Amino acid sequence: MNKEITKNILEAAVMAPSGDNVQPWDIRMSENFRQIDLYNLPDKDNSYYNYQQAASYIAHGAVIENILIAAGHLGCHAEYQLFPDATDDTYVASITLSPAEAQADPLYSAIFERCTDRFQYKRTEVTNEVLEALSNSVKNIDTASVSLVNQKDKINQLANELMVNDRIVFERKDIHAFLFDKIRWNKKQIEETKDGMPIGVLGLSFIEKMAFPLFRFWWYVKTANVFGLSKIIGLKCWWSCRNTSLLGMISIQGNDKVAFVQGGRAMQRVWLETTVQGFAMQPIIGLTLLINRLKQDKLDDFSEKHRQFVSRAAESLPELFGVSEQETLTMGFRAGSVKKERVRTQRRNDFKGL
Ligand SMILES: Cc1cc2nc3c(=O)[nH]c(=O)nc-3n(C[C@H](O)[C@H](O)[C@H](O)COP(=O)(O)O)c2cc1C
Repeated sequence: MNKEITKNILEAAVMAPSGDNVQPWDIRMSENFRQIDLYNLPDKDNSYYNYQQAASYIAHGAVIENILIAAGHLGCHAEYQLFPDATDDTYVASITLSPAEAQADPLYSAIFERCTDRFQYKRTEVTNEVLEALSNSVKNIDTASVSLVNQKDKINQLANELMVNDRIVFERKDIHAFLFDKIRWNKKQIEETKDGMPIGVLGLSFIEKMAFPLFRFWWYVKTANVFGLSKIIGLKCWWSCRNTSLLGMISIQGNDKVAFVQGGRAMQRVWLETTVQGFAMQPIIGLTLLINRLKQDKLDDFSEKHRQFVSRAAESLPELFGVSEQETLTMGFRAGSVKKERVRTQRRNDFKGL
């Protein structure tokens, strides 16, 4: 295989999103450039959300999808096998490449444009063609489906449920600590780590940006919560969800590691298609991961209040999105219009074998 093409494929692979941009992967290329091995790095994400590596496996699904799209576009046939070694949960996929005729794919350029946009969106009309394109984008993944809601009254009802995660982040010390550990405050940190989230991607207004450095101190957040800080954070998410053109939910059959990888592939396809259609997107995955933990009775040491928040969302989201109770909610999201250029997160491009 051509070294240059395989390098381009790997550059596309690492553009995948991951929880707080932890990039929990190790990508190895074989000597003849014919096989890519994808490994999970469990220590990269020890957050409460990453129960049984669900969040990391979703990210791996996005890496795999990027590889498949880039390979087809650049003239390779790619075949993948998930968890090829039954004794090793960290060996997520082996992908075999062989030469083929290039098939132009509009999703390819979207791989490099896609980003998380946490700013407020403008509500614009979503045409039936766009809705259809988004629904069709996951058609090649049998076990995945996407539900879309663009009616104002339903969006308002959903906003009430989707807001709870952001509030919980500011009410639980461990979740708060993980988030703030992944925030990059200046250029030097961004360049040195090439992971995490620059402060500019958090969707903060000028005033919020001034106050935010104080929020990294738990004692400050705890005190400010007495005066309603966490509730205000939740309300900001509620407002963002209300003022959006579209809310969506990607769901998948099953809830094992294969299901989460396939859910991640579906996430990436919907996100790339949303980008092609000219919409900005923010995933709301923290909440779906908490719902998954609740369903397995693993919301350990959650307060009664937080358990109730998650339980309520677990009951109403499937109903409002029209998803069967048996399916696993993988990723909620909001999409809408924005015009601004966005700050970008970085990636580590340290491929083994190239
Ligand atoms: C499994 C997973 C969970 C995520 N959860 C959230 C979330 O709950 N809220 C959010 O704003 N972004 C979330 N993100 C987006 C990541 O923070 C984002 O992809 C990462 O920082 C890289 O930035 P980029 O998407 O702009 O490339 C999630 C991404 C993944 C893959």
